[in-house]
Amino acid sequence: MRFTTGRTAGRHSTAFSMLVVLALLAFTLLSAPASAMGVVAFDYGTEWMKVSLVKPGLPFDVVLDRDSKRKIQSAVSFKKWGLDEEILFGTNAYNHATREPKQSFYGLKTLLGRSTSDEDKPYVDLYSSIFGNDVVSSDRGTCSLKRPYEADSKVASLPVLTVEELVGMQLEYAKKLAEETAGERVNPSVASGLSVGVFGGLDAVVIVPAFFNAQERQSIVDAASLAGFRPRLVSDGAAAAVNYAQTRTFAKSEKHLFFDVGSGSVRATVVEFSTKPVVIDSVLSVGTAQKEATVVDVKGVGWERNVGGLRFDLILRDKLAAEFDAKHGQQLGGSIRSNHRAMARLLKEANRVKHILSANDAASSRVESLVDDIDFQTMLQRQDFEDAVTAAGLVPKFTSPIDQALANAGLKLSDINSIVLVGGSTRVPLVQNALREAGIPDSKLAQNVNADEAAVMGAAFYGASFNPQFRMKEIRAYDLIPYAVNLKEADGKEEIIFPAASYQTDQVSRQYDNAKEDFIFELEYDAASQKALGDGKDRSITMVEIQDIDDALKDLKASGQLDQVDTYVNLTISSRPLGTYAVENIVLVIKPKAGGGIAGALKSFFGVSTPKKATTNATATNGTASAGKNETTTGDDADMEGEVEEALSAVPAKDKVVRLTARNIPQNDAGRPLSGDEIKRSKDKLWTMSQAAVRKAAREEARNAIESYLYRVRDLVDDPTYSSVSKAAERDSITTKTEELSAWISDEGETADTSTLKLKRASLESLIKPLETRLSQSKLRAGSFGEFESSLADARAFVAEARKNLTAAIDANLASKYSVAELDSLNATIEKDAEWFEKGKKLQEKRGPSDDPVLLTGEVDTRRRKVNEQIGKIKRRKIAKTRPKKSAKKEEAKKEEARKEEPKKEEPKKDEPKKDEETPRHEEL
Ligand SMILES: *[C@@H]1O[C@H](CO)[C@@H](O)[C@H](O)[C@H]1NC(C)=O
Ligand SMILES: *[C@@H]1O[C@H](CO)[C@@H](O)[C@H](O)[C@H]1NC(C)=O
Ligand SMILES: *[C@@H]1O[C@H](CO)[C@@H](O)[C@H](O)[C@H]1NC(C)=O
Ligand SMILES: *[C@@H]1O[C@H](CO)[C@@H](O)[C@H](O)[C@H]1NC(C)=O
Ligand SMILES: *[C@@H]1O[C@H](CO)[C@@H](O)[C@H](O)[C@H]1NC(C)=O
Ligand SMILES: *[C@@H]1O[C@H](CO)[C@@H](O)[C@H](O)[C@H]1NC(C)=O
Repeated sequence: MRFTTGRTAGRHSTAFSMLVVLALLAFTLLSAPASAMGVVAFDYGTEWMKVSLVKPGLPFDVVLDRDSKRKIQSAVSFKKWGLDEEILFGTNAYNHATREPKQSFYGLKTLLGRSTSDEDKPYVDLYSSIFGNDVVSSDRGTCSLKRPYEADSKVASLPVLTVEELVGMQLEYAKKLAEETAGERVNPSVASGLSVGVFGGLDAVVIVPAFFNAQERQSIVDAASLAGFRPRLVSDGAAAAVNYAQTRTFAKSEKHLFFDVGSGSVRATVVEFSTKPVVIDSVLSVGTAQKEATVVDVKGVGWERNVGGLRFDLILRDKLAAEFDAKHGQQLGGSIRSNHRAMARLLKEANRVKHILSANDAASSRVESLVDDIDFQTMLQRQDFEDAVTAAGLVPKFTSPIDQALANAGLKLSDINSIVLVGGSTRVPLVQNALREAGIPDSKLAQNVNADEAAVMGAAFYGASFNPQFRMKEIRAYDLIPYAVNLKEADGKEEIIFPAASYQTDQVSRQYDNAKEDFIFELEYDAASQKALGDGKDRSITMVEIQDIDDALKDLKASGQLDQVDTYVNLTISSRPLGTYAVENIVLVIKPKAGGGIAGALKSFFGVSTPKKATTNATATNGTASAGKNETTTGDDADMEGEVEEALSAVPAKDKVVRLTARNIPQNDAGRPLSGDEIKRSKDKLWTMSQAAVRKAAREEARNAIESYLYRVRDLVDDPTYSSVSKAAERDSITTKTEELSAWISDEGETADTSTLKLKRASLESLIKPLETRLSQSKLRAGSFGEFESSLADARAFVAEARKNLTAAIDANLASKYSVAELDSLNATIEKDAEWFEKGKKLQEKRGPSDDPVLLTGEVDTRRRKVNEQIGKIKRRKIAKTRPKKSAKKEEAKKEEARKEEPKKEEPKKDEPKKDEETPRHEEL
């Protein structure tokens, strides 16, 4: 089997070139169409998550957490509440960890895409040391987290959650914050595909470290899809560089190194900035028009995993723990390290101490009742802290990424214009010292004004570039994946399909000639990437089996005609989102051999008799399998359908095109993306948990409502106004009920469900409501009754006058806006109301203030309003309701006759209402 490879930009050219079109300084988008969508970017870090939003009409900024913080702790925690549990995020989750560390998850980024196999053990061990969470293996061999579960409790709890589920919950929370700010929903389907031309909703971009491999990228993409969106991915260095380019112009080419010390890793990214004429590569522009654009080209990356802010915290925590053991170990009868709760509190304290030590030589630490009522107090010296970091061998690891990135880019430090510091931890003196020790002159260091937010802001710009509606200066960004992807055929032949370089290709097409049976190939990182991936890391991304060929050809095989046809398979391997790989658009083309006649079974195989229909029918509509993508939601499928149709009209009708499927056979457990079923199951799981939170919120509200009601009622009983409208016995039973409920709420009420809480409240309300009614009625009564009486007088006067006018009109044979029937009916209503009112009023007058009222003002007002409305409608009428008959003489004659013959008088009147009401006509008496 021969194969050929082609790299195509194809119709995905915009995504393909990673085109980035940016605003010049601020967005002046107020004039953009209302349908313009926005972009939300997520920077999900080990310790912190940041979210930014760009949307026409809104200031371009980070999205604030509910407590108005600019960054959100990457934590999720479960708190038992009555029969349910509450899911906490951000600061709340982080703080709750000091109470229930085993129900709290933090630093999960270190576990994304990791398996429980030996090769990932260092990552799993580091993670377990944070809160002592138990890491277990999922069905796919990836990491799941287990939390304590009380089997006897009624808590609807899910004790084992995958890393993707836990991260997905946090992303969903962040998504909600963004949607609330934007007033628009994140678009679930367009983000990772081609979104140009699709407006409305928010597009999503997720930042990943450049070193993330396919498994890690797929893991965060899976987490994102659980949160209901399909993001683009962009590496942190590229995002920060795009942010940098936003406010600058580059007359000459410049090279800068972005140095980022995060919580979980250190990254260095060499980027070249230049201004070049580029072909406008947009759906909205035609031809090959050229335009000046700023080109952001990532030239090299370097990194060190597992070094960063979190490691500092853990080192400080361990120092604190050691000091505690030294001071109080004997008293405690063991090490504090075995107490997860105390260790969680120490980790929080370590984080606080770290920030003090950034600006001071020493920090005092005090934790009250850390364990067994022991107050812990100590002083930490910055020097001791730095010595511990040095002893852990971390110092050179801060700067080695710089050398690595330079080497990767083939550059020297002297080629670099400046080193731009990004990421909060770059401010730590230790890091600054490490840079100095590595021989980097201060003059080369550029402090970024907003080091913490550079990447997340840049990522939103990056995402905005895919929407032609943003009127912006043009910038093109070429991101970089540091690993090359090799395609290995079953016969051992290899070819690098995605080189490790500035990432300019996101799709590769392959043609396999003479494919007559199902076949496999493997996608793997090339040997040269082994070191970068980390020792012992499996290079395999996935094994792919192209299926359904056997099936498509079985009839030909059975009839012995297989050698009379030529076949080939076309497929594309795409890298969307960036750095994840999927095999798509797989078709098998079967054509009769050149010169060979078509006869017998072959003839029916190709459906020669009805060429057009047969070929259309031959196109199986089975979806393409891909590495974890939900193909049904992308625009690609629709495109594909179109492509096949086109191809069909181009080849002779007798060629048969069959769509095939691909199956992933992961060579390493973590490599398999979540299947559609697994995504659905996880989504159900998250939904179940979120429902518990909804129930909890409802119950809490019901409980609060009782409490505040009780509070109000206690005041009410002593209120003289209420005493005046109540009897002593009533006040007694209210007091008794209030006391009973107060006792109940702080006891059984703690765990009672919402409906019980509501019933309890109603039992008190039923005693209070009558009093409230009496009070409000006594206030409203005089006014309401007075208004009714004066309205009544007006209404009677109106009817009398209207009837007079109508009679006069009839006598003079003139048109009138009234009819006899309506005035009769109005008069009847008025008199009925009057009678009802008089009767009620008499009864009411016999009642005292502490009796329940009989005639309620609400009803009195309603009746008054109804009559007034009816009168108003008649008064506003413009068109006559009755008019003379066309022939006045005839009418006169008829009237004469009617007067003579009394019994006949009523007859025509009865018929009248059945006639068309639209036409004004004379009403006959
Ligand atoms: C298969 O790919 C080749 C080029 O790679 C293209 O010319 C041909 O039209 C494709 N066939 C189908 C059916 O897509
Ligand atoms: C498609 O094929 C099926 C069976 O192979 C047949 O029943 C059906 O009528 C065909 N449809 C068309 C539109 O030719
Ligand atoms: C699609 O593929 C699946 C599994 O490969 C198979 O069971 C199903 O019958 C196929 N459907 C069609 C319409 O070919
Ligand atoms: C794909 O996504 C659609 C829409 O979100 C959903 O209805 C469908 O079940 C998904 N399919 C799979 C296989 O996940
Ligand atoms: C209204 O109806 C009452 C009896 O229902 C009648 O006594 C009275 O004269 C009527 N008034 C007018 C103006 O029609
Ligand atoms: C009755 O007729 C007089 C004189 O045309 C007019 O001023 C008055 O508004 C009329 N009243 C009603 C209730 O139609």
